[in-house]
Amino acid sequence: MASWSADLELGNPSMDDDHKQLVMLVNELEYSVDHRRSSDVIRAQFEDLMTVADRHFCHEERMMRQAGYPDFRGHKKLHDDLTRDLHTLMRQIASGEGEVSHTTIEWLKGWVGGHIRGEDRKLAKFLAERPLLSRIA
Ligand SMILES: [Fe+2]
Ligand SMILES: [Fe+2]
Repeated sequence: MASWSADLELGNPSMDDDHKQLVMLVNELEYSVDHRRSSDVIRAQFEDLMTVADRHFCHEERMMRQAGYPDFRGHKKLHDDLTRDLHTLMRQIASGEGEVSHTTIEWLKGWVGGHIRGEDRKLAKFLAERPLLSRIA
């Protein structure tokens, strides 16, 4: 089970709140896969995760634009790549060709943890050094 840990905390309350929610949704999905809950439940949870991830990525991208973040394009591309992969998987699930497996969960946990500790940490540091700009986001 993935859990929220201190090294995921970035000190930016709006980013941290979103990240906690994302980690919680991945945990719930993992619980459902582990306990072989129905495919309808798993699909609904997967859709919730996609919705929250979409909203969170838009939020970070808005903050990056407003603060003039120098690596906006690189960071956004990582968001776009994950979004595309999630939508591909969602289509496969909806058509019965794919499912949320343990491998999917491990991939998601790795992506979320790695992204927060890497690109998001850099962004939070940049915003912290520009408090006036980040406050209007
Ligand atoms: Fe993030
Ligand atoms: Fe991000």
